[in-house]
Amino acid sequence: TIHPVVLCGGAGTRLWPRSRKTAPKPFLPLIGEKTLFEATLDRCSDRDLFAPPIIVTGAMHLSYVEEQSAAVAGTQVIVEPDARNTAAAIALAAARLPEDALMLVCPSDHYIGKKDAFLAAIRSAAELASEDWLVSFGITATSPETGFGYILRGEPVGAGFRIESFVEKPDQATAEQFLANGNYSWNGGIFLFRAGFLMQELEKYRPDIASAVSEAVAGGHEEGAQFHPDAEAFARIKGESIDYAVMENTDRAAVVPVSMGWSDIGNWQALRDAREGDEGGNRTRGPVEIVDCRNVLAETDGPRISIIGLENIAVVVDGNEVLVTTMEGAQKVGKLSGASNQ
Ligand code: GDD
Ligand code: MG
Repeated sequence: TIHPVVLCGGAGTRLWPRSRKTAPKPFLPLIGEKTLFEATLDRCSDRDLFAPPIIVTGAMHLSYVEEQSAAVAGTQVIVEPDARNTAAAIALAAARLPEDALMLVCPSDHYIGKKDAFLAAIRSAAELASEDWLVSFGITATSPETGFGYILRGEPVGAGFRIESFVEKPDQATAEQFLANGNYSWNGGIFLFRAGFLMQELEKYRPDIASAVSEAVAGGHEEGAQFHPDAEAFARIKGESIDYAVMENTDRAAVVPVSMGWSDIGNWQALRDAREGDEGGNRTRGPVEIVDCRNVLAETDGPRISIIGLENIAVVVDGNEVLVTTMEGAQKVGKLSGASNQ
């Protein structure tokens, strides 16, 4: 059995004004009826394959987490006093599991269209993970994104390939080279490994994080289904992502390529593309009237939106905020003062 470890952290400012500090991206029903967080729990709901989930989240997201996971029996929640990035979040869960437990790290802010392909990839990767490979799932790179980790495939191993090199968030020129090279895939941010082996590799490359996490776990306490790490030890943890702390350094990384309709829904353009469109490619929600438009995303929680003769734009109304952007501009939404001063 595999232990899903669901990570709930950041705010997702590039989906402002819908995603806000008080209503972050994982907890919104962005595609279909379910929130991305609920869909993440749902993907790991087969109890023949998965144990009940361990959710790692900040104290400020706890009410959303409890509300949206209430229906899932056996859930445990690790409550972080504040954010220390993914190396700490993952290690907190690893240090609480038996050394031989397999853990599946699941970001809670992704969309995966093909659940069956996801499950098949997890099943085929389990053997690699139990043989002490840190398994990442590779997504075919389709554009020179600078917000992803890039994986260069090496020799075949088990159901996947040894990772020749792992480069987290390259600059634009490097990302373009990787894309042109053709042998790189994106890191999907989903990992499968043996809990004890992850701790061993963390100890090797970031002993400071490993020891502070171990102390935070040893000194922590349970409160019902919640686990609270020791606050003093937690405060000493250096914030670092698992990608920089371990994946770039280890020589035991493997990648299992998977085509599962993955999107990190990083901005309004990605969200438009993940939603089902009408025959003109338009995606609308709420009272919207569009005439002679193509590939427009328009959604509102109140005032009616009316648009004539535009292409490839997003119009989003949320409360008293209105965003209008081209799809190219969607990358920059996080830089708007509305998004950063929310
Ligand atoms: N509990 C907890 N605590 N969760 C966190 C924290 C934290 O301090 N920081 C981040 N997370 C959660 C986020 O909510 C998200 O679900 C996941 O961990 C990944 O963190 P991001 O901050 O979204 O990482 P990223 O998008 O910059 O990069 C990662 O994901 C890419 C794919 O989307 C990397 O793994 C990249 O290599 C990868 O390509
Ligand atoms: Mg992300």
